[in-house]
Amino acid sequence: MLRLMASMRFREDFHVRVSMTVNGRNVSGEVEGRTLLVEFLREGLHLTGTHVGCDTSQCGACTVHVDGMQVKACSMFAAEADGAQVATIEGVAANDGTLSAIQQAFQDHHGLQCGFCTPGMVMAAASLLKANPKPTEHEVREHLEGNICRCTGYHNIVKAIMAASGQEMPALAAE
Ligand code: FES
Ligand code: FES
Repeated sequence: MLRLMASMRFREDFHVRVSMTVNGRNVSGEVEGRTLLVEFLREGLHLTGTHVGCDTSQCGACTVHVDGMQVKACSMFAAEADGAQVATIEGVAANDGTLSAIQQAFQDHHGLQCGFCTPGMVMAAASLLKANPKPTEHEVREHLEGNICRCTGYHNIVKAIMAASGQEMPALAAE
């Protein structure tokens, strides 16, 4: 048992240097081996737009893109993202502050209330529309399965994503 505890202690104290590109900027830092990507983003880089809403990898508030793939940043070690291209909500709007089409659609269609889930929702929506530019309402709802919103009832989020895809609102079913 003492040996096991000693080896666990070793792993906790283990540090590793990580380098990655975040929103087009080269960054690096020294992290504990157990540091999650979301911790590195929020605490190491102060990119606090990526939220933490659970400790069970269920809420999706921490959704980012890693090498173009939608990822829950709480389910990945920072060290696993070494060398990767990471995109967070801070990199979605243009440099002059102009919102992306998805962000604008969330604003126009009241796709947020408290906004806590919104960064994750926007990153998830961006991933969906990249792979499937004209999703059906069902596909949008299915894609958002891993993103929880406590406020909106989802309907306006779905409307916003459909609008961002250039599709008509009347096609949407009632809540
Ligand atoms: S904080 Fe990552 S899924 Fe909830
Ligand atoms: S807008 Fe509040 S949790 Fe989604």
